[in-house]
Amino acid sequence: MIEISGFGKDYGEFTAVESLDLKIEAGEIFGFIGPNGAGKSTTIRFLATLLRASRGSGSVNGFDVERNPMDVRRSVGYMPDMFGVYDGMRVWEFLDFFAVAYQIPRTQRQRIIGEVLELVDLKHKRNDFVNGLSRGMKQRLCLAKTLVHDPPVLILDEPASGLDPRARVLVKELLKELQRMGKTILISSHILTELADFCSSIGIIERGKLLMNGPIDIIYRQIRSHRNLDIRVLRHVEVAEQIVSGYQGVRSVEVDGLSLLVEIDTDEAGLEAILRELVEANLGLYCFADLEPSLEDVFMSVTQGIVN
Ligand SMILES: Nc1ncnc2c1ncn2[C@@H]1O[C@H](COP(=O)(O)OP(=O)(O)OP(=O)(O)O)[C@@H](O)[C@H]1O
Ligand SMILES: [Mg+2]
Repeated sequence: MIEISGFGKDYGEFTAVESLDLKIEAGEIFGFIGPNGAGKSTTIRFLATLLRASRGSGSVNGFDVERNPMDVRRSVGYMPDMFGVYDGMRVWEFLDFFAVAYQIPRTQRQRIIGEVLELVDLKHKRNDFVNGLSRGMKQRLCLAKTLVHDPPVLILDEPASGLDPRARVLVKELLKELQRMGKTILISSHILTELADFCSSIGIIERGKLLMNGPIDIIYRQIRSHRNLDIRVLRHVEVAEQIVSGYQGVRSVEVDGLSLLVEIDTDEAGLEAILRELVEANLGLYCFADLEPSLEDVFMSVTQGIVN
């Protein structure tokens, strides 16, 4: 659905993106993660046909970004990282403006505007001035704008930045809804937790280089040669500690009250053996959790080149 091959962008002497290859399948939510200045917006603007590549090529929905920009624009809903100012425009006029630009027939425009406003929970602001909206509302309006022409692909540059936690949850729910509607979504962020629960795949970019990309579970597995276990018992934590410490591959065991936090290199069979011995020791074992690394862990280990 989205394909980039050898994309690079130089600004004068400065190379913002070196050479980037990326493939995003239809129906995926792809999280594009990287710190400030990594090259996310540069790559996104290229896909949105707003920036010329210094090298390489890209295609969206089967259309070449540089050779068929009009077809790409019809296929993409793009949400920029900055919201433009539209003096004296009302919410519905703002959406109507884009609907006209996308050549949506007059007879359908009112209905569509109603639908997208409903989707972003702004129906009650239909006749308000855009300038008078709060930042979070502007953000949601901007998201509504990307949906007006019902594109199969959404490219969203930090859609949740500057939003309060409640608005963030709203945006998240909305993105999930859009995925259910069959959209392919590329979303950038430097807030990792924002993407963790709903991205199907991620790419990590730093200083114009894609350090890693793929399905989120495979990325987790790749960076994960050791596991963190959260073990809790009702009594005799010292016995639990002794049992666990006897296993091969244990890196550390931390005791906190009646809980153990264990770092260990092992596989599923190894975990099963520990679990069985703990149960048989009759310590009131009620929790044995193999903790998922957080996206922060992934990001830190990848960007520092330290894979632990
Ligand atoms: N028009 C421009 N002229 C010169 N340099 C630019 C231009 N646009 C971007 N850059 C540089 O290219 C690099 C990548 O910028 P980009 O906006 O793509 O980063 P980003 O990953 O989107 O960062 P952020 O998280 O801050 O939005 C930065 O070092 C930036 O300073
Ligand atoms: Mg950016």
